Amino acid sequence: MIGVIHATPSVIPPDAFSLFMPILLAFASIAYLALGKMLGAHFQQHPQQTFSKNCFDSLVKTFDAQCERLAIAIEDRKIQSCKPTPPVIPMVSLRPGDKTHDKEYRENQDKFLLRCHAEAGPIFKLLIHRLEVTVISDHHIREMFHNENFSNVDALNELMGVKTFLHSLIKSGKNNDSRIQNSIILEHLTPNLGKYQAEIVEQFEEGLRRGFGENGKKEGNKKRTLCEDPTNILQDMIGRSTGTVFMGPKVANNPKVLDTFIMSMHDFARVLGLNDINIPFWRRWLNIKLNHFNNPLKHRVRTLAEAANPIIIERRRREQDFIDHGNSHDICGHIMLLILTSVHTTIDASSAMVYYLAAYPETIPVLHREQVQVLDAIQHERQQERDALLAKGHEIGPDLDPSNDRDLTTAALKRMVHLDSFQREVLRCRTEALTHFHMARKETVLSNGMIIPKYGMLLANLTSTHSSSTTHSPNPSEFHPWSHVGTFKTATKVGVNFLPFGMGKHVCPGRFMATQQTKSLVSLMVSKFEIIEFQDPTQAGRVLRMQHGDMPSLGLIFTDR
Ligand code: HEM
Ligand SMILES: *[C@@H]1O[C@H](CO)[C@@H](O)[C@H](O)[C@H]1NC(C)=O
Ligand SMILES: *[C@@H]1O[C@H](CO)[C@@H](O)[C@H](O)[C@H]1NC(C)=O
Ligand SMILES: *[C@@H]1O[C@H](CO)[C@@H](O)[C@H](O)[C@H]1NC(C)=O
Repeated sequence: MIGVIHATPSVIPPDAFSLFMPILLAFASIAYLALGKMLGAHFQQHPQQTFSKNCFDSLVKTFDAQCERLAIAIEDRKIQSCKPTPPVIPMVSLRPGDKTHDKEYRENQDKFLLRCHAEAGPIFKLLIHRLEVTVISDHHIREMFHNENFSNVDALNELMGVKTFLHSLIKSGKNNDSRIQNSIILEHLTPNLGKYQAEIVEQFEEGLRRGFGENGKKEGNKKRTLCEDPTNILQDMIGRSTGTVFMGPKVANNPKVLDTFIMSMHDFARVLGLNDINIPFWRRWLNIKLNHFNNPLKHRVRTLAEAANPIIIERRRREQDFIDHGNSHDICGHIMLLILTSVHTTIDASSAMVYYLAAYPETIPVLHREQVQVLDAIQHERQQERDALLAKGHEIGPDLDPSNDRDLTTAALKRMVHLDSFQREVLRCRTEALTHFHMARKETVLSNGMIIPKYGMLLANLTSTHSSSTTHSPNPSEFHPWSHVGTFKTATKVGVNFLPFGMGKHVCPGRFMATQQTKSLVSLMVSKFEIIEFQDPTQAGRVLRMQHGDMPSLGLIFTDR
């Protein structure tokens, strides 16, 4: 018998976080865009009109007609692409019986891409996620990230139709490509990450206590806990610690604020209809339109502002301008946008880390040994400093308090090079083969002469960089957790052969905070648990490479040290 933590039935399945991407991509059909335009006009003319069954019926009809037109357009294009008019981007043929490439890609990403390459070379078009997408490889990937005509934000915002919805949360900095979020992170969060570390660890420990506390059962002298959905616990831990970093421990310990950090993404997911993957996409789009007028995240922002007001005013007085744009309500709006970008990505990365620990159990003792050695060394150094001070007759200040000798500080994390290598390797290996959606804002010519039209969509073939044999040894398609030790390639060092955080002007500014959190989390996990196993070992392979819409939530058994 082992203790069991049951998956608590939440409003939406935690899986919905990972569904975010695919559904976002599913929005991206030409039919959807056309439908969007039509509806936009409709709502402007009759803003008060409520939704009737007739309205739905006519929408369904329009949708069907658009699908037909889309099919004809695709056929036309196929015929066109047979004409020898270079440099045309070739469309990869469909497998007999398939209407799009989705199924074949999902079945085996690598095998499918090999076929594409053999048939069409390094640049080609696919029908995927209900969209015609151009896949690029090798040095063109760098081109995509560095060319301002290709925009990641535009691809996501435009396709989901959520731009105005999100803009209703803020007053300043609309249409400024996340520059304000960027400056908050670069100027106010990242430089202070060391100071927040003690709070982050405290929140994680609290989360672990709450998550695992009473539930385990002793088996011999070891406690084993079956956790049916570990993501629930991670969500609580990351929500707490992110709250602390963004708003300070005083505000974040307010239960309403904590709830906001954990639940905002759920609200957003509900607005998008991510709780039910069977909802037709045009219905999702309407959800967003209708929620413009009653954006549930606005209430969340108000909660943050009410809790934070006194402290923001205080901080402003001390630090002169937390941000120079607008009032505290606006600041909290920007914090809400940060919550939406940061919390679910960090939860997602953390759950990947924990699943990799379970899939590669030999990593746990190595990481634990490193942690003990680093903390031993730091304790020893601090003892020497204290001895030296005492020998000179000085007093020992609070910074050398022995009770803090074994704290998981950022200085300690920095010395854990195996932990860093493990993280980089998990992020490298789990990354989907085709990712980093970008949209062309203008017609743009690639360096090889191929033309990407305005509104054209691009995806990068990451196998060409993430597992190129020149950059990783010995076998790039395998998981080698320690291969980055001693290479100066840390988990935050991006480059064309490591793109989980993107690169170029829009590289993820939150990656320092994210890796500090995931490192602290993995460190605490390996010090608390000796073994982490899959509830159903046959499912282990599924978590090792993420696919759109298929990041499973699998049960894990945790055995205490
Ligand atoms: C492991 C967790 C995370 C991953 C994998 C991740 C990944 C990414 C990626 C791929 C991009 C797009 C880069 C591009 O367009 O080239 C991005 C952008 C961004 N991320 Fe993250 N992120 C993570 C955590 C965070 C956190 C914790 C924060 C906030 C503290 C954050 C804030 C942002 C912002 C503001 C942008 C937009 C940057 C811009 O457009 O200039 N991210 N992230
Ligand atoms: C966008 O944000 C940046 C940095 O916050 C600022 O310097 C720039 O003036 C802003 N641009 C616009 C058009 O608001
Ligand atoms: C961006 O697009 C414009 C208009 O098509 C083009 O003139 C310009 O050269 C492009 N910029 C780059 C860097 O390719
Ligand atoms: C993707 O990149 C890998 C590694 O360079 C390459 O072997 C493969 O052919 C590429 N796939 C396509 C479809 O270009």
